[in-house]
Amino acid sequence: MNWKLLTFMPLLVLVKSQETCLSAEEEPYLLFGTKTSYIFANKVFPNTRVQDVPGCQPIAIWLLSRHGSHNPETNETAALQALADLRNNIIANYRNGNFRNTNQRICTSDLNLLERWVWSPGQNPSFAGDLTSEGYISTQQLAQAWKQKYPGLLTENRHDYLFKYVDDLRSGTTFRAFSEGLFKSQPGGSDVPKENDEKTLKPYKYCPAWVKDVEQNNDTLRQMNTFQSKQEYREMLSNISLRLGFNYDIQWDVVYNMYQMCRYDKAWNVAQISPWCAAFTKDDLRRIEYAEDLETYYKYGYGSPTNEKMGCTTVKDMMDFLKNHVEHDTPQQPRTHIQFTEAPTILLTLTAMGQRRDSAPLTGDNYHTQAIQTRKWSTSIMSPFSANIAAVLYKCSQDGNFQVKGEYQVLFLENEKPMKLDGCRVGLCDWNYVKNKYGQVSDTCDLKFCNSASNLNVHIPVTLVLIAFTIKYLSYNS
Ligand SMILES: *[C@@H]1O[C@H](CO)[C@@H](O)[C@H](O)[C@H]1NC(C)=O
Ligand SMILES: *[C@@H]1O[C@H](CO)[C@@H](O)[C@H](O)[C@H]1NC(C)=O
Ligand SMILES: *[C@@H]1O[C@H](CO)[C@@H](O)[C@H](O)[C@H]1NC(C)=O
Repeated sequence: MNWKLLTFMPLLVLVKSQETCLSAEEEPYLLFGTKTSYIFANKVFPNTRVQDVPGCQPIAIWLLSRHGSHNPETNETAALQALADLRNNIIANYRNGNFRNTNQRICTSDLNLLERWVWSPGQNPSFAGDLTSEGYISTQQLAQAWKQKYPGLLTENRHDYLFKYVDDLRSGTTFRAFSEGLFKSQPGGSDVPKENDEKTLKPYKYCPAWVKDVEQNNDTLRQMNTFQSKQEYREMLSNISLRLGFNYDIQWDVVYNMYQMCRYDKAWNVAQISPWCAAFTKDDLRRIEYAEDLETYYKYGYGSPTNEKMGCTTVKDMMDFLKNHVEHDTPQQPRTHIQFTEAPTILLTLTAMGQRRDSAPLTGDNYHTQAIQTRKWSTSIMSPFSANIAAVLYKCSQDGNFQVKGEYQVLFLENEKPMKLDGCRVGLCDWNYVKNKYGQVSDTCDLKFCNSASNLNVHIPVTLVLIAFTIKYLSYNS
């Protein structure tokens, strides 16, 4: 026997066994929580279909819009760059035939993709966190889509507008991209009325009670931790490790970095396959997505009562704007209010509006129930890149539309699609209904609680400390 044949034999055996080619998935799973591309969450983009309400004219629009896809934050780059070492290990594993179970091995074409992967963004640290070119272009396109839908509101006249955003790099770039999309004649938007309104757009920065009760409260992540410590989740990590040829189970934070790179890649270049996505099956991606839903549900959603209270700031901003137009009954300026914000504020706003509320809470134990599999709370759908919430005020002639009763109607849109609202017709609501429903949220919007010292949660650790002290004291003395 030829020695060459002998060395090749183990390889032949390997090749015969079944390989999993995850990058070749015909219908890949593309919902990646807060780093989902708008086009994957929304399916129709840009959606230029004009919303026609017979007998009514749009007279004002309030729009809350999340920024587009961005470069990794400064504190994320090191971990993502380190994926190059992990990639080298995966390639070495493959070359060495290092597989516990060859039925679950990454396929050759996935491996080849991974081999060609290079870390490209963040070479210039001053771009950290800023929009990518994809993020910039899709922001321009979104502006144009709104302009096409409401040409009478999104005009070339600067005085029709008020923009609000916070003073940071990403928001500034978002404003520039959006105004370039709007104003063909004179882009840049330097002379457009704009305000820095961080209190409205990032209420959590001004709410110590929320930081203490929610953000820094260990209970907030309890359901997510429960889910991630389930046998199923650990088996997933084990399967991913097997797939990549590791003889041990790799840690969640390493898996998370691969996931992070996969979803950034898919947001930066929606048409391209990310080699890092090949580490995950569709079920893996759904599980990781649910873990993030558990995080956002308790951090920004119905899971913590404080969120509903704090999320009112944007609803108040919207109601003040709409009321001003309805109560004056003559055209008011500005008629177009556009604010740029972040995922937490989109989620908090939807929560304060009572949108996408599930009848059963999301927990770490109910992932396999029907209610959770068809849940309304979905971070991917609610706050993808460029997520938006709009309220368009219409003035109607009484006899123009037999379905419309009041003179003023508001059309609510979530990511350009009519919101599901009880008591309204395909997102179109009577002003009286809106005034009752959201006027109350707006009128009772008071962040005084944010600075109040008394809250229940401080008592829990104190009690624990007391108990621990007592036990220690007793055992010391016995
Ligand atoms: C990076 O910083 C942001 C806040 O600026 C924080 O929300 C995030 O968790 C941090 N990420 C890591 C990986 O530390
Ligand atoms: C919350 O969790 C962190 C990390 O696990 C721990 O250091 C801290 O003591 C916990 N705080 C409370 C109040 O239990
Ligand atoms: C792990 O892989 C095995 C074999 O392919 C599969 O039957 C099982 O469902 C996987 N488990 C998880 C949690 O993905």
